[in-house]
Amino acid sequence: ISASEGAGPGTNGTRRRSEGVRGEADRALGSEELAEIGMRFEVDGEIATITLDRPDKRNAQTFATWSALARIGSTLPGHVRVVVVRGEGPSFSAGIDLRMFTPEGVPGQGSFASVAALDSDAFERRIQEAQQGFLWLRRPDIVSIAAVQGHAIGAGFQLALSCDLRILAEDARFCMKEPALGLVPDLTGTKPLVDIVGVARAVEICLTARVVEAGEALRLGLAEQVVPREDLEAATAKLASALLTTDRAAAAATKRLLRGAPRRSLEEQAAAERAEQVVRVQTLFAASAAPER
Ligand code: ACO
Repeated sequence: ISASEGAGPGTNGTRRRSEGVRGEADRALGSEELAEIGMRFEVDGEIATITLDRPDKRNAQTFATWSALARIGSTLPGHVRVVVVRGEGPSFSAGIDLRMFTPEGVPGQGSFASVAALDSDAFERRIQEAQQGFLWLRRPDIVSIAAVQGHAIGAGFQLALSCDLRILAEDARFCMKEPALGLVPDLTGTKPLVDIVGVARAVEICLTARVVEAGEALRLGLAEQVVPREDLEAATAKLASALLTTDRAAAAATKRLLRGAPRRSLEEQAAAERAEQVVRVQTLFAASAAPER
C-alpha cells in the first residue's frame, strides 16, 4: 500500500497487487478472525466501516489491532470511497492495551518487556508495521472519517488523527497520554496534530497529557463537527453520503492536491494543480469525444 499523498496525476491509488502469487498478506481477514481481535469490518456500497469492538475493554488496542487495520487497508475493495472508523460502546478507544506494560503482556502478542529486548532495528520494524495500520487511512482514493464518542486516548487519539475527518459526539475527549507514560506518540499522530493545531498547541497538549474536550477540539480544528451522542451515527452517514456526490477521480485528484499543499511552495502547488487538471480535462474530453456505439 502506498500511503503517499504525492502520487502523480493519473494514479488513483486503487492498484491492487494483482500480479504474481497472492500471499497471506493479500487475503482479507474474515469476520471470525476480526472478532477474535475485537474488530468488525463491513462494506455497504462505497462506504466501508471499521469498528473497534471490545467495548468492555473500552476498545483498547493491541499489535493484533494494528496488523488487522493494515490488512484491511491492503485488501480494501477497490470500489470503496469512504472509510468510517468507529468504536463500539462508551469509548472510541482507551488507547494501547495496558496489559502491554505488564510482564505477562497480551496473550500471544508479548509485552513491552519482550519488544524492548529486540535490537533497535527489529524494534523499529515492529513499530513500522504497527504504523501501517494508520498510514493508509490518508490514501487519496478514499476519505476516512473517525466517528468519536467518549474517550480517545493515546493510540485512540492517534487513530482519530489518522483519519481525514473527525466527527465528535459531545462527550468525546481526546488525550495524548503517551508522554505521561514515558513514551512518545508513535502511531503517526504527531504530524496531523501539528498540521492542524500548530507546534506550540501540540507541545502543550502532548506534554501536559491533558484532556481536550469536544468543544475545544472543534475550535482547534480537531473536529469538523460536534453532534449530540445520539446523532453521531446519522451525522457520520450523512457526511459519508455527501462525500460520494463528487466525481470519484476528481475527488482523489483534489485530495492529492490538498494533502500535498502544506509541503509545497505556491509555485509548486500551482504546477501540481495544472498537472492534475490536464489529466482531468483530457479524461473528461476523451470520454465525451468517444464515438457512440
Ligand atoms: N487497556 C486495557 N484495558 C483497559 C484499557 C486499556 N487501555 N482501558 C480500559 N480498560 C478496561 C478496564 O481495565 C476495565 O476492565 P475490567 O472491567 O475488566 O476491570 C474496562 O476496560 C472498563 O474500564 P473503566 O476504567 O472501568 O471504564 P471507564 O469508562 O470508567 O473509564 C477510561 C474509561 C477513562 C478510558 C479508563 O478506562 C482509562 O483511563 N483507561 C486507560 C487509558 C490509558 O492510559 N491508555 C493508554 C494510553 S497511551 C497509548 O495508547 C500508547
